[in-house]
Amino acid sequence: MKVLVIGAGGREHALAWKLAQSPRVDKVWCAPGNPGIADSAECVPVDVANADALLALAAELRPDLTVVGPEVPLTAGVVDAFTARGLRVFGPTKAAAQLESSKSFAKEFMRRHNIPTAHYAVLTKESELKDALAHFSAPIVVKADGLAAGKGVVIAQSKEEAVSVAKAMLSGKLLGAAGARVVLEEFLDGEEVSFLVMSDGERVAPLVAAQDHKRVGDGDTGPNTGGMGAYSTDALLEPAMRDWLIHHVAQPVVAGMKEEGAEYRGILYCGLMMTARGPMVLEFNCRFGDPETQPILMRLDSDLLDAFEASVDGRVSDGDFKWSADTTCCVVLASGGYPGEFQKGKVITGLEAAAKLPDVKVFHAGTAKNAAGEFVTAGGRVLGVTARGATLEQAVACAYEACAKIEFDGMHYRKDIAARALKVATKNNHRRDAESAEKMK
Ligand code: AMP
Ligand code: GLY
Repeated sequence: MKVLVIGAGGREHALAWKLAQSPRVDKVWCAPGNPGIADSAECVPVDVANADALLALAAELRPDLTVVGPEVPLTAGVVDAFTARGLRVFGPTKAAAQLESSKSFAKEFMRRHNIPTAHYAVLTKESELKDALAHFSAPIVVKADGLAAGKGVVIAQSKEEAVSVAKAMLSGKLLGAAGARVVLEEFLDGEEVSFLVMSDGERVAPLVAAQDHKRVGDGDTGPNTGGMGAYSTDALLEPAMRDWLIHHVAQPVVAGMKEEGAEYRGILYCGLMMTARGPMVLEFNCRFGDPETQPILMRLDSDLLDAFEASVDGRVSDGDFKWSADTTCCVVLASGGYPGEFQKGKVITGLEAAAKLPDVKVFHAGTAKNAAGEFVTAGGRVLGVTARGATLEQAVACAYEACAKIEFDGMHYRKDIAARALKVATKNNHRRDAESAEKMK
């Protein structure tokens, strides 16, 4: 079978890498891909935001299945265009992808279907700010309605700051058209969990959970980014909580979308805050997360192609995925200045040394090759250094050992990916050790 993966980031590298391992796949293309992805797929140039260009590419390559990675082509209606031509394609339609492309749509949908989420207000004019803010106390979360590559959310520490951020969004100065509508939200406190399910429009199959690290700096400081690192371990989500989320979040979303005439097929990414009041949905994404996909797929023991086909053919079942009990950790190496302005074209060294380490895979996101054939930086998030281990300690240590081998001018990364979970794991281990020492006495 021949598969075309659309996209160019670390997530698409992980998708192509996993698909290439399927005994049923004999060809993977990635459009446009990046030079790192070339280890798993043949990269072909294309503009992912242009549905016609993607259709022309599919007509030329004739893939048996197309897998759409990022939200931009989904929102541009690529799945609708492919389906209209009778081409097999994985992902939600443009109407279903509104769960991600419009935060106000998602909030109103959740209200209609009783899905737990923070209190909110939707604004389109500055004049509505004063009345709306009367219902909130600081900190206040200000969100641009449209797509903003993970940078459309500001946690304002005062009402004054909320006003100035909301004004900058509404005027188009901060995020262009994405900010023409603004969602104000109550601030929620707790641990974040990324819970993804595969849907065929009716049924869902859960993936293992992951935790992303959205802020740029250690200790969750600085502005939000697309994601600076993620880990996956079974300890993140107890089976009872996973079942609760399936029954109170994932399944109602899929049933609600079907009822509203926008059947949801594909990955439904539920971004959750585990609060003292219970889990609350922060956002939905209509695709795999980036960087969560890198550690999640590193734990997948079954064939990813089977799962995609189950979604496309309408036969998803609970046992579609087989997972390793191992834990995984992905650390993102970013360009100096990211998530603000950054320079490109910095030569990357140490990739081969990192790749030689056992249980490590370096996924490429923003990389290119220069005239001399060297890997250089070409984006904000450059590499996703991902490792697996029997314990979280091992996976984290292994990922950071690999990071230490890689260098480029201006490179920065968080040193505390999974650090809070490690503290808890260490405490539990000590308790268990003490308990067994007690028993031995
Ligand atoms: P979103 O794109 O809506 O998921 O927001 C991006 C990030 O902003 C989330 O992953 C959280 O870290 C943070 N965030 C969003 N909404 C809230 C909220 N209501 N309370 C606290 N943090 C939030
Ligand atoms: N890592 C968050 C996202 O993919 O949106």
